[in-house]
Amino acid sequence: MVTLLQRIDTFTDEERIVALELIDDAITRPEQSGYQCIVAVAPGASAGASEDDEHVAGYLSYGRTPMTEAAYDLYWVAVDPAFRGQGVGRKLCAALEETCRQAEGHLVRVETSSQEAYAGTLQFYLDQDYIEGGRLPGFYKPGDDLVILYKLL
Ligand SMILES: CC(C)(COP(=O)(O)OP(=O)(O)OC[C@H]1O[C@@H](n2cnc3c(N)ncnc32)[C@H](O)[C@@H]1OP(=O)(O)O)[C@@H](O)C(=O)NCCC(=O)NCCS
Repeated sequence: MVTLLQRIDTFTDEERIVALELIDDAITRPEQSGYQCIVAVAPGASAGASEDDEHVAGYLSYGRTPMTEAAYDLYWVAVDPAFRGQGVGRKLCAALEETCRQAEGHLVRVETSSQEAYAGTLQFYLDQDYIEGGRLPGFYKPGDDLVILYKLL
């Protein structure tokens, strides 16, 4: 997972550290933290054989949103550049949505940045029927808005 996150050039070091903390919590204390992960195994790798980054095509971390009845947050989704454009991200989101539905979740929220480097990411969510629910202008830094998207399940 460390190598995968290092390959995502749009992530800052601070974002990588936070992303790894969520992965650690999902592995070591999922009940207390509320964080969970879905991992896409690279084609050709034997499922469950190892946590070796060679076998990880992408992952998604999510959790039930505290103080809501049944909303979920999609915290991070990342696909190794070598596996982009092959439907891995779409499958990870579909797996999340199915998991939420089974837990009687009614909504998934995701936040992203308005900066140009994230234009593809924003389009990725819009193409999967996420709806822009609002923006906080200059939230990350001047000119870089927080974009809040949601999908009703
Ligand atoms: C965003 C990301 C997860 C997409 O993963 P992916 O596996 O390449 O996406 P998919 O192949 O499943 O694409 C699904 C659809 O999203 C859209 N899409 C994906 N990437 C896109 C891009 N860069 N530009 C425009 N549309 C895009 C397309 O409509 C695509 O459908 P298509 O295959 O029919 O064309 C991946 O690019 C990534 O890891 N980005 C860096 C990390 C990041 O920004 N994460 C989100 C913030 S935490």
